[in-house]
Amino acid sequence: MESENDNHFDIPINVRVLEFFRKNINSLSDYLSVNDLLKNQCGINNFFNNQEEASQLSRILDEYDDKFLQIDRREFGDFQTNLALADQAVDYSYSKFSDIEFVLEPTCGKGNFIIAALGKIENLKKVVGVEIYKPYVWETKFGILDFFLRNGSKVKPDIDIFHANAFEFDYEELAKSSKDLKTLIIGNPPWVTNSELGSIDSINLPTKSNFKKYRGLDAITGKGNFDIGEYISIHMLRCFHRHTGIFAFLIKNSVIKNILQDQRLNKYFIGNSESLKIDSKKEFNVSVSASLFISELNHKPELVCEEKDFYTSQSITEFGWYKDKFVYSIKDYDASSSIDGRSIFTWRSGVKHDCSKVMELKQVNGHYLNGLKEKVNLEENLVYGLLKSSDLKQEEANEYRKQTIITQRKIGQETAYIKTNYPLTYRYLSSNKKYFTKRKSSIYKNKPEFSIFGIGEYSFAPFKVGISGLYKSTHFTLVRPHNSKPVMLDDTCYFIGFSNLIDAQIAHFLVNSEIVQKFLKSIIFSDSKRSINKDTLMRIDFGKAYEKSSFEIAKNSISDLSVQEWNKFGQIIKSKESFQYSLM
Ligand SMILES: C[S@@+](CC[C@H](N)C(=O)[O-])C[C@H]1O[C@@H](n2cnc3c(N)ncnc32)[C@H](O)[C@@H]1O
Repeated sequence: MESENDNHFDIPINVRVLEFFRKNINSLSDYLSVNDLLKNQCGINNFFNNQEEASQLSRILDEYDDKFLQIDRREFGDFQTNLALADQAVDYSYSKFSDIEFVLEPTCGKGNFIIAALGKIENLKKVVGVEIYKPYVWETKFGILDFFLRNGSKVKPDIDIFHANAFEFDYEELAKSSKDLKTLIIGNPPWVTNSELGSIDSINLPTKSNFKKYRGLDAITGKGNFDIGEYISIHMLRCFHRHTGIFAFLIKNSVIKNILQDQRLNKYFIGNSESLKIDSKKEFNVSVSASLFISELNHKPELVCEEKDFYTSQSITEFGWYKDKFVYSIKDYDASSSIDGRSIFTWRSGVKHDCSKVMELKQVNGHYLNGLKEKVNLEENLVYGLLKSSDLKQEEANEYRKQTIITQRKIGQETAYIKTNYPLTYRYLSSNKKYFTKRKSSIYKNKPEFSIFGIGEYSFAPFKVGISGLYKSTHFTLVRPHNSKPVMLDDTCYFIGFSNLIDAQIAHFLVNSEIVQKFLKSIIFSDSKRSINKDTLMRIDFGKAYEKSSFEIAKNSISDLSVQEWNKFGQIIKSKESFQYSLM
């Protein structure tokens, strides 16, 4: 935290507040007496914590101009809520519960939620704001003073604005002392993750940063990564869920999803939850999916949340725990949950090489051109067509823009054969060896030279049903061989492989059928990154999808399908041996 001698008044101070202090400049020489004056004027306790603060303000009053120091506020996840949005959030919370007596803003920034609450809520008795950044503490205090200079006749609640770290502040004590007050906990906690903080060497972290108690690998990998806003939200719920009132936080949708997902274990007394989607680009100029998460406190613990549009209140979906599953659309899941099972085919991700400059080629005027724009002379045998996520938009594909060199048929296979059998390919790969040695991922360590990943016999299946793992679309594409050679998919795609066309066509028809599409949309949180993944796809029960369909419907999509082929596919997916059927 800053030292006491830092100047914290490099902030915009509005004319009314400046005039007020200029008029009362003499009283700044005694901070206790100016504190009394301020308590009277605007309700804030201990406006100045010591004489130095009051004297510092007094010194800058004369030469004050409104330049504002630009500092790196990344570590504080600093996205201040504009007053209009804060007003709407307070209005909405107030419409849910109008008897609020106590407002808490645990990371209050410049104080717009507090100002909005003072303007809206009648009969407020107590307000507490906490903020780590001293200039914002002043902006909040000055904002409140300005509010009461404009609205002198309003009843003044007891107000404390603390310059403190939310991770250290004693919210439990505050919860005890405010237990009988009807409470609104409102705010917009920092939008930053602990790993982003790590990358800027920040210490703005809770002391027990492994707060979700992830162990071992999960603590090191993604699962241990959490949002500081999530920590603060959970801490607030832990301390205040038995208060009567409302919890209203602007947070990332990923945080709301986690709160609901963990609610099955946490069982906080929250219910009637709503997630009101905001336009973060418009409000904060960032591209992050975020919402106002509203919950009634001291409510029987509930595990679901209604998602709505913040601006129109139009309902979008109801998500949460349903039939023992965590789903994005309870309604759609209800209509399609029979599909939720175990895929008989093993979904695979495509080939990976981390060396696109050398391994990916274009065919130009009868020769290969690599990513270094060099003409390359190779035998054709190890070169295969390659489809990427962006190529999987149509119903079917066998044309490709790029090709790739496939050096192995399975992971770890020796690659010495290339030198003997394909000397041109070997010469090309060897002359670019430095690009392979530069690959950082541990998957290539201690492996034969020019090793690739995501490769197995399944990669050579001539027919594939594939989907992009990068996009939100749940549409599947049928991939056919090109000139009798299987076409590969890259590692951004998932697929299942088939040795004959008709089976691939039936599988393709089933995964694109209405019920499977409904099922996938019901479990995929469209805001999450990489929401289409192996775990999701492995839940598609082909047996059930087949049962829900019929030869007649399938025939509309696959014109040359015969009843025998349809029945044979049905027997295969029902039989135990069918596990052998996918090219593992
Ligand atoms: C997303 S901004 C929102 C500010 C304010 N709640 C609003 O809605 O305008 C997050 C605020 O949290 C403050 N902050 C960050 N880390 C904090 C901490 N450890 N303790 C208290 N406040 C913190 C930042 O300085 C910043 O003002």
